[in-house]
Amino acid sequence: MITMEAFGGRRLHIAVVLAVVAVLWSVNTRSPPDSIVRTNADYDPCCAYPCDNQGVCLSYPDRSYVCDCTNTGFSGINCTSADFLTWVHHSLKPDPEKLHNLLTSDWWLWDVVNNVPFLSDMAMKYIFISRGDQVDSPVRFESDHSYTTLDAYFNETYFGRTLPPVPDHCPTPMGVAGPKQLPDVDELIKRVFLRRKFIPDPHDTNLLFQYYAQHFTHQFFRTNYTKGPQFTKGLGGVDSSHVYGVTEHHRRAIRLNKDGKLKYQIIDGEHFPPYIKDTPGLDMELPPYVPVNADTTFALGHPFYAMLPGLFVYSVIWMREHNRVCEVLKDEHPDWDDERLYHTAKLIITGEVIKITIEDYVQHLSQYKVRLRFKPDVIHGSRFQFHNRINVEFDHLYHWHPLVPDGIKVNESYYTVMDMAFSVKPVFVHGLDNFIRAMASNRAGKLSARNHGKATVPFLRKMLLNSRTIRFRGINEYRKRFGLKTFTDFMDLTGDEELARDLQDLYGDIEAVEFYVGLLTERDSPSLTPLAMVNIGGPWSVKGLIANPICSPHWWKPSTFGGDRGFEIVQTASLQKLLCNNMKSGCEGISFKVPPGTA
Ligand code: HEM
Ligand SMILES: *[C@@H]1O[C@H](CO)[C@@H](O)[C@H](O)[C@H]1NC(C)=O
Ligand SMILES: *[C@@H]1O[C@H](CO)[C@@H](O)[C@H](O)[C@H]1NC(C)=O
Ligand SMILES: *[C@@H]1O[C@H](CO)[C@@H](O)[C@H](O)[C@H]1NC(C)=O
Ligand SMILES: *[C@@H]1O[C@H](CO)[C@@H](O)[C@H](O)[C@H]1NC(C)=O
Repeated sequence: MITMEAFGGRRLHIAVVLAVVAVLWSVNTRSPPDSIVRTNADYDPCCAYPCDNQGVCLSYPDRSYVCDCTNTGFSGINCTSADFLTWVHHSLKPDPEKLHNLLTSDWWLWDVVNNVPFLSDMAMKYIFISRGDQVDSPVRFESDHSYTTLDAYFNETYFGRTLPPVPDHCPTPMGVAGPKQLPDVDELIKRVFLRRKFIPDPHDTNLLFQYYAQHFTHQFFRTNYTKGPQFTKGLGGVDSSHVYGVTEHHRRAIRLNKDGKLKYQIIDGEHFPPYIKDTPGLDMELPPYVPVNADTTFALGHPFYAMLPGLFVYSVIWMREHNRVCEVLKDEHPDWDDERLYHTAKLIITGEVIKITIEDYVQHLSQYKVRLRFKPDVIHGSRFQFHNRINVEFDHLYHWHPLVPDGIKVNESYYTVMDMAFSVKPVFVHGLDNFIRAMASNRAGKLSARNHGKATVPFLRKMLLNSRTIRFRGINEYRKRFGLKTFTDFMDLTGDEELARDLQDLYGDIEAVEFYVGLLTERDSPSLTPLAMVNIGGPWSVKGLIANPICSPHWWKPSTFGGDRGFEIVQTASLQKLLCNNMKSGCEGISFKVPPGTA
């Protein structure tokens, strides 16, 4: 009886599904095929970006164009009419700004979601998949061609590119909008970016956060400036090369070759990385103006990290953590050789890096009240692609130099950014732990317009020029690409009359506002950054973290990490634990926020 009923029930089920499919099929039949549009423009009509919803514009010599809407879920001449399923999907999708306000508000539902594992998993699955869907995987573009090339995928010396460059035959640098010549960078910097008076971040963000941002992201933001701003020296994501080095040559140079550990030396009773003289063969690859002394410069996974105390601090902590993990593994597997201990510890460290980045760092950055969790298993079996490339727009978006204050107070001393450049001396004058406490109690700057300190302006200047060399499209094109509504005018962008007037003066047309300029001049949001920066950077960031191979179904299991103990280190990692395990004097109260009561 039971089986008969089950059989009948299933048959009915199939019939209903088939009927629904048939109905959808008929509603979903494509409207007229994409057709050629003749224009009387005297330029390539694709320069005006006529195709919406990620349709691809293809033009012909008679100034006609066609929008290729294949697989966009839209059809029509400019890919503007939604197919039935797209329409349903879009009507269910919340408005990004409303969703962001909800996610960052103290809503009772978040308490429920945070405390019910099944709901929390659903929320994380939604976040991982909806963000991941917004990133091309595989990558389609690089910066030397305004159309898809096979090189974009196979030539990994290129950064990926989310929107192809503005073709260089277009009437203006932004396509058709705006002036023939973009505003002078120095004037732009003076009017829009330069700090008048330090504006602290309103979320109590400290320098431990600022340096985490820089330390973590420089493992994959590694422009090869010698070759050009479109090329990278790095790989496709979170490879922990900021701890171990990006070439095998470099990695070998800093290994101890015993018990899986990294080389270390003891200074005042504490473990520190070796000096360059102790690491023959290390690739330094620093620009010639950077002073390097083999006897006193530290040898780290990333050579630049020996040039700023805050970056050095994280390198010391991660080196100690790696060596600590090696001891745990050796205890568990006394029979393992150096090679196996090293590689397994490296997988654990990579897991810890991702866990801390999501649960401590992105949690603070986003100010979401939903607790973010590193749970790769929630997307196993879904359409999520475990592959990633770094997009050059992401590198530009992440130029977060406004976080950097003019200086740092350490006990009774004060160091300006330039006092600290090229030297890690302050760490030894005060001691590592005191320096960490100082990083925790000094405020970082607000990520906004008019907050770039003098010391970092040269890097901003070069970045803006680079974005013009590789012909980024304007902010509104990126907003469209990431499903955000476009800005209608300068007030809509900034919410600030003076800034709106300055930008109006400089650009004339909202459609001509450059990518980075639009990101930093947008009105405040409840996060550390304005909304577009969250909703454009978020997809690249989530994709980069979760597409890591360790998150994929055949990797994400105890044996990858040397067994249950190693897997547990990954699954319980936190900023607090990282510091507690590796500071001499304890870590109470240290987080990404200044302690309560700090001025
Ligand atoms: C603490 C003070 C800082 C100094 C002195 C500094 C200095 C520099 C320098 C010298 C460059 C190379 C620029 C060039 O050659 O044109 C650079 C690039 C960059 N900086 Fe900073 N920076 C600082 C803080 C930060 C912070 C907090 C972030 C946030 C994550 C950041 C993000 C970047 C990025 C993404 C690049 C491009 C890297 C690449 O593609 O290779 N920087 N910075
Ligand atoms: C398609 O876009 C072009 C250029 O923006 C516009 O002139 C034209 O009216 C649009 N056509 C339709 C049917 O939307
Ligand atoms: C990648 O492209 C650049 C620029 O065209 C070229 O110089 C380089 O040789 C290419 N590399 C490979 C591996 O094809
Ligand atoms: C950077 O580019 C230069 C010039 O093409 C090349 O010689 C060098 O090998 C590149 N560096 C790295 C680390 O890829
Ligand atoms: C420096 O400050 C730390 C707390 O941030 C404190 O524990 C330490 O005693 C101070 N050292 C000196 C020499 O004042």
